[in-house]
Amino acid sequence: MEIRVLAGDVTQTRAGAIMVGIFEGTEALADHLTAVDKALEGAISRLVEQGEVKGKLGEITLVHSLGRLPSDRVVVAGLGKKQELTKDRLRGVVAEVCRSLQKKSVETMATGLLGAGIAGIAPEGAAQAITEGALLGTYSFRKHITKEAEHGDLKQLLIVTADEADRPILEPGCHRGRVIAEAVNFARDMVNEPANYMAPGDMAEAAKKLAEGYGLGLTVLEKDRMQELGMGALLGVSQGSCQPPRFIVLDYKGGDSGVVDLALVGKGITFDSGGISIKPSEKMEEMKTDMAGGAAVMAAMAAIAQLKPRINVTALVPAVENLPSGSALRPGDIVTAMTGKTIEIISTDAEGRLILADALGYAVKLGARFIVDVATLTGAIRIALGAVCSGAFGNNQGLVDKVLAAGAEAGEPIWQMPMYDDYKEQNKSDVADIKNVGGRLAGAITAAQFLAEFVGDTPWLHLDIAGTSTTDKERHHLVKGATGVAVATLVNLALSISAESTR
Ligand code: BES
Ligand code: MN
Ligand code: ZN
Repeated sequence: MEIRVLAGDVTQTRAGAIMVGIFEGTEALADHLTAVDKALEGAISRLVEQGEVKGKLGEITLVHSLGRLPSDRVVVAGLGKKQELTKDRLRGVVAEVCRSLQKKSVETMATGLLGAGIAGIAPEGAAQAITEGALLGTYSFRKHITKEAEHGDLKQLLIVTADEADRPILEPGCHRGRVIAEAVNFARDMVNEPANYMAPGDMAEAAKKLAEGYGLGLTVLEKDRMQELGMGALLGVSQGSCQPPRFIVLDYKGGDSGVVDLALVGKGITFDSGGISIKPSEKMEEMKTDMAGGAAVMAAMAAIAQLKPRINVTALVPAVENLPSGSALRPGDIVTAMTGKTIEIISTDAEGRLILADALGYAVKLGARFIVDVATLTGAIRIALGAVCSGAFGNNQGLVDKVLAAGAEAGEPIWQMPMYDDYKEQNKSDVADIKNVGGRLAGAITAAQFLAEFVGDTPWLHLDIAGTSTTDKERHHLVKGATGVAVATLVNLALSISAESTR
């Protein structure tokens, strides 16, 4: 999609549709609405009077201009209460409008700079939110559908500003929005692929494309190197599958020091059958998305490489398939992680924490200042938080606060979960240093406590995205399937750590 900022009068723009916003409970129509209303001979004010247009958040009314305006259609979009407008709401409304126009094969939409200057939204932020809404809301994954789509794509978005002087302010906002949204859509593409198209080797191939495209450093460790490093937990999970594991390392160097400021670790289970502790077959197909954390950190690196924060960031993705076979890990087995800790396997379905144990061990060995891992780790976080927010667990409140702020800025809600020492009791093993399941109670927390054992004193945060990485319905900027959650949060985090260290 082409997105352009133009100076001019949006009502005079020639497009398939122009979008105008209306607030809930507004008596007089805002200026730009008055102009459109006049051209349409009072059609909008009549709809308001009759109560069909209320301005409620997400309300979409399509009016045909029948030649009275250069554009064929006017979309009147409800923005909710004026004082409650946020960038997230704006992005969501733009997404829904773009999606509905795309379903009608409209190719061009023009909009004014909706929301700017309202409720503290800066013009640059409004431009970013509009851009993200358009790119994220119209996403679809049709790669494996041979039948042609029933409608075309929305091809062009024009953001029309009254003042030419606004353009240099809005264009960076559009740029940032595009970089982030394209990264989110890249992650969605990876996650939506079935496991026969997204095996560990395919994840490494995707990393290679990113490295070449954006100038990132790339190292891919294979099985023999993992053995040398003593990654017994990761290798244990991988031993049931014919797909060889990969350990992907992507490096971005934006700082002048030799240290890794931020290590991003993503769970890359390309298919989670549960292994010998096999899952029920119902909905097992959804477990092709168990590499969403890995996809998120890889995609974030692509955006980071383009937005250039002045820090060094390294992404680590253990990519492994979890299958049962004659060579698979068994419940009761004991494996030794890279840090030397021994782990009793209670369930081979608690495999995410095993591969992460070795990836976190690797991050610590790199000497990373901060470590953030992202993983579809537990069904328990879905029970606790549903599909609305991701769960955050940390050993350092300063880092937790940074990630919560980055998530809020990104419009990705994150809820901090407790990490009381008492929960650690549940992970105690009689035969090894620790066991990989701490029982049914507080399952998301005991999983996080397990991970905490492999990071030592390094400030670390674990984001459990098992509830938020996919969605079963269209909602705001989200469409069915993978959401690409955490990409935007990680990008904002890198930018904020950079802003802090250069201050
Ligand atoms: N990949 C799953 C978690 C998951 C569940 C992600 C549903 C997305 C949707 C993870 O590997 C898993 O199987 N966790 C188990 C852990 C249990 C065996 C301790 C779970 O949550 O049931
Ligand atoms: Mn599992
Ligand atoms: Zn899993």
